[in-house]
Amino acid sequence: MEQYAIKGGNPLVGEVEIGGAKNAALPILAASVMTDETVYIENMPDVRDTNVLLKAMQNIGVMIKRRDRHSVALNASNVNNLVVEDENIKKIRASYYLIGALLGKYKRAQVALPGGCDIGCRAIDQHIKGFRALGADVRIEHGLIKTRADRLVGSHIYMDVVSVGATINVMMAATMAEGMTIIENAAKEPHVVDLANFLNSMGANIKGAGTDVIRIKGVKHLHGTEYAIIPDQIEAGTFMFAAAVTKGDVTVKNVIPKHLESITAKLLEIGCEVEEADDCIRVVASKPLVHTQVKTLPYPGFPTDMQPQITVALGMSRGTSIVTESIFENRFKYVDELTRMGASIKVEGNTAIIDGVEKYTGASISAPDLRAGAALVIAALAAEGYTLVDEIHYIERGYEDFHLKLQSLGAQIEMVESERDYSKFKLKTG
Ligand code: UD1
Repeated sequence: MEQYAIKGGNPLVGEVEIGGAKNAALPILAASVMTDETVYIENMPDVRDTNVLLKAMQNIGVMIKRRDRHSVALNASNVNNLVVEDENIKKIRASYYLIGALLGKYKRAQVALPGGCDIGCRAIDQHIKGFRALGADVRIEHGLIKTRADRLVGSHIYMDVVSVGATINVMMAATMAEGMTIIENAAKEPHVVDLANFLNSMGANIKGAGTDVIRIKGVKHLHGTEYAIIPDQIEAGTFMFAAAVTKGDVTVKNVIPKHLESITAKLLEIGCEVEEADDCIRVVASKPLVHTQVKTLPYPGFPTDMQPQITVALGMSRGTSIVTESIFENRFKYVDELTRMGASIKVEGNTAIIDGVEKYTGASISAPDLRAGAALVIAALAAEGYTLVDEIHYIERGYEDFHLKLQSLGAQIEMVESERDYSKFKLKTG
């Protein structure tokens, strides 16, 4: 079983190239089945979640050609199966994007119910409500979501909660419905906008993505396209907080600074210097970090996917900080692991009350999910001594070459597979 061995204490210094956004890549890959023509995708992250989705798509007959590590050609003219039951697909949350895409094009689909990170109850009622409003029959049977429609007809849909997944799924199905669909209380995340831009480049008619109200005029056919995925806001934010926590000086390259505004604002508040250019951001942490308060919110608020990373930083910041998680109810599970590294954090419901400590100390810990796993790695990079991080497959779901990118910034981190490897790492770095 692979683990990360880390020796903390080195400030991270240098430049790091940010890859394509996982959470934009997943719906864009799924939406590629909506045309019989070839779709070329650039800036695709090479991470486990995208690879699992590509494999599942291949299993239903989509032809997939990797042109290089980050670009892929997809052709769905020979799709021969509308039941997606791939062994691995249940493990990724975004499997359900194939429902919206296949339902839109073929008017029916059956997809295994989604998994993903265990960060709280992840209902799909808003997806189902949206599909039904478009005229589809939706059932959950034998672990599958089964949808079918004679016709999909545009509708006026009000989302009861702001949901990225439901907005995306309904937007895909509505793209090929008859007439106009209006989604109110839509999610405004950059990846929602990226998917809309992608679908429009295939001939869709979607307006308002990035605002609360999205208007979709259905079209009969979509055509092939060439499209480059936006940079990953959360990967960038993770490296920005890694700079803060290790008292480093890191420039994240190939980013869209606008997407990082809430993250930049919090880094400034806790005492970092932040310099922005057109497509890069430099974070310098030369002074001691100070406390703040933060509440996770839908975009443009502070992202829930950055909550563990900021908590790790506040755990080492002077004073008492408060972090409120308003999106997922079970997203503080990693705090137990951080406590084992010396953090002083009390969780009450959806709030963490953090008393900043001078330093963390290395320990044997386990990554409980994708983002918390990355946050614990950052804590280990700042900690005194050695840390062994287990269950790193979670981190590989969404970070490409995480340890290699960290190494290039001067981190002492290696992937190890045995006690022997770990001893060797200790000898080398001791
Ligand atoms: C996506 C992201 C995830 C991020 C989350 C919030 C992907 C693959 N994943 O997840 O990284 O943490 O957005 O930014 O893009 N909800 C309902 N009913 C529904 C759908 C959602 O009640 O039908 C609730 C959820 O339980 C949660 C909230 O709405 O409390 C937000 O969930 P949602 O935005 O749908 O998250 P995901 O799309 O699953």
